[in-house]
Amino acid sequence: MKFFIDTANFSEIKKIIDVFPIDGVTTNPTLISQTGESIQSLIPKICELVQKPVSAEVIETEKDKMYQEALQLSKLHKNVVVKLPLTKDGLAVCRLLKEKEIPTNVTLCFSPLQALRAAQSGATMVSIFVGRLDDIDQSGMQVVADTLEIFSNYSLKTEVLVASIRHQKHILDSALLGTDIVTAPYKVLNQIIQHPLTDIGLKKFLESAQALQKK
Ligand code: E4P
Repeated sequence: MKFFIDTANFSEIKKIIDVFPIDGVTTNPTLISQTGESIQSLIPKICELVQKPVSAEVIETEKDKMYQEALQLSKLHKNVVVKLPLTKDGLAVCRLLKEKEIPTNVTLCFSPLQALRAAQSGATMVSIFVGRLDDIDQSGMQVVADTLEIFSNYSLKTEVLVASIRHQKHILDSALLGTDIVTAPYKVLNQIIQHPLTDIGLKKFLESAQALQKK
């Protein structure tokens, strides 16, 4: 399973790649707006830093304008993955970008059939927002499980990207289901390697080592 970081915060990305292998970055207009920088200046910097796929999202909603914006975004850096909304216009643009071999991440997916249509439109990856489904009392992970089964039934190459991750259990469940990619916030990526017994065990080992030195 590939691990992406879900942030537009340059210093968070820098801190995480110094410690863990990271396979990509996902951003969205909300995350970009929190940085106070423009997408045009920020995305190339992130791409240069990580040298991995970086999703950059369109904000146009009408097909022709969205297509032009998508082309501009893809020119920002060779590692840009154009993020498109799961709408009629978004899927139409997805097909056009597929013809040009521009990678895409179809976002805001909340059902297996939406995911199927995104895959059939040539999406490189499809982002299923599990946290937002859980928020409305639906099972985000069931949508992921059903999507994986459908993609396997038809040998679809689109990668299933689990997004809107709120906690470690979402990541564990994704790995158990065989998800291709998870994208998680900085905080959750750090939490997954932590365990109280690791801290207690290390403390005891250090105490033993110090006691030995005193002898
Ligand atoms: C995915 O690419 C999105 O940026 C993200 O996971 C959205 O998550 P949220 O529901 O926490 O906003």
